[in-house]
Amino acid sequence: MNTQILEITPASLTRAADLIVNGQVVAIPTETVYGLAANALNIEAVKKIFEAKQRPADNPLIVHIYQKEQAYPLCHWTQTADLLAEAFWPGPLTLLLNKKELVPSIVTAGLHTVAIRLPEHQGALAFLKTCDLPIAAPSANRSGYPSPTSAQHVYDDLCGRIPLILDGGDCRVGLESTVLDISGKNPVILRPGFVTAEQIAMVTGSCEVADSVMRPLSTGEQALSPGMRYRHYAPQGQLTLFDGDPLHVAQAIISLYDHQPDSSVLAMEQHLPLYGDRLVYSLGEDAASAAHRLFYLLRSLDKQGIRHIYCESLPQTGLGLAVMNRLARAAEFDIKNV
Ligand code: TXA
Ligand code: MG
Repeated sequence: MNTQILEITPASLTRAADLIVNGQVVAIPTETVYGLAANALNIEAVKKIFEAKQRPADNPLIVHIYQKEQAYPLCHWTQTADLLAEAFWPGPLTLLLNKKELVPSIVTAGLHTVAIRLPEHQGALAFLKTCDLPIAAPSANRSGYPSPTSAQHVYDDLCGRIPLILDGGDCRVGLESTVLDISGKNPVILRPGFVTAEQIAMVTGSCEVADSVMRPLSTGEQALSPGMRYRHYAPQGQLTLFDGDPLHVAQAIISLYDHQPDSSVLAMEQHLPLYGDRLVYSLGEDAASAAHRLFYLLRSLDKQGIRHIYCESLPQTGLGLAVMNRLARAAEFDIKNV
């Protein structure tokens, strides 16, 4: 299959919507990461998402909409959902609500909840409006690879497997949406993202973070969010995280780096001088820029054939928790306290 990359124009939007209506898949930009879209109500189309990504069938998909009212036939909408939608939509927050019959169980992997998100990217909204259907879309990477934050990343992973990529530029946020379960009594974050627990609690009064966010699942443990079960966001090289005082972290990293060829370091901008002239990439000055750069950096280190990646930890507060959740998984929880 020939894979086209097209800028977002009225003509490419029409072409994309034609493909979707005809049961095909299309990669689309969002403010978080690129998604691989299909008509959520068409089982055969949704199957194509799983095939193209080589995604395990027990990992459910997020349904994307362009206006809140589209959620009503899909789920049992609640007052809490209304408050959160008012505060954070359009934007990088996904809500888990009890599903209605209309949503095929392939989308929810048989779960009783459905994940719903109204993105903020103008290209994504234009696409969703043109299709005027609920659109199932996971991140548009091969399963297990870092999520794509540019059209080129999608092409690198899915070339020949999908007909069209809509190019909406680099993703502003750079890591996936916050997944918030509001199907129970209290809101619980299953996957941290750009919208933080602190921000959600301002709206709902309280917000828990599932403790599995920062630890590996034990054998046989049921994952609240099936996606957390898999080795995720992983680069080809081996990633190790270091936590502690920046000076000690730099010393520990340097002593390993200097004995390993094909090594590279990911560090906060402020700490770059600690690493001298070694191969160091900046995560930027704060958690937001680390979020924006993380997947891009992991992919570019892979392209350079880097075998060992040593990375500084970030404080697990605010957006830092989302960055650390992705890093810890990419490192398979290899975190050294120094
Ligand atoms: O920012 C995003 O959320 C991007 C863009 C494209 O919207 N999408 C995305 O989708 O990251 P995906 O499929 O890569 O991640 C969705 C996560 C998975 O970990 C999945 O297990 C979880 O959400 N999820 C989806 N539906 C769920 C449900 N009903 N219950 C629990 N977890 C669910
Ligand atoms: Mg994903």
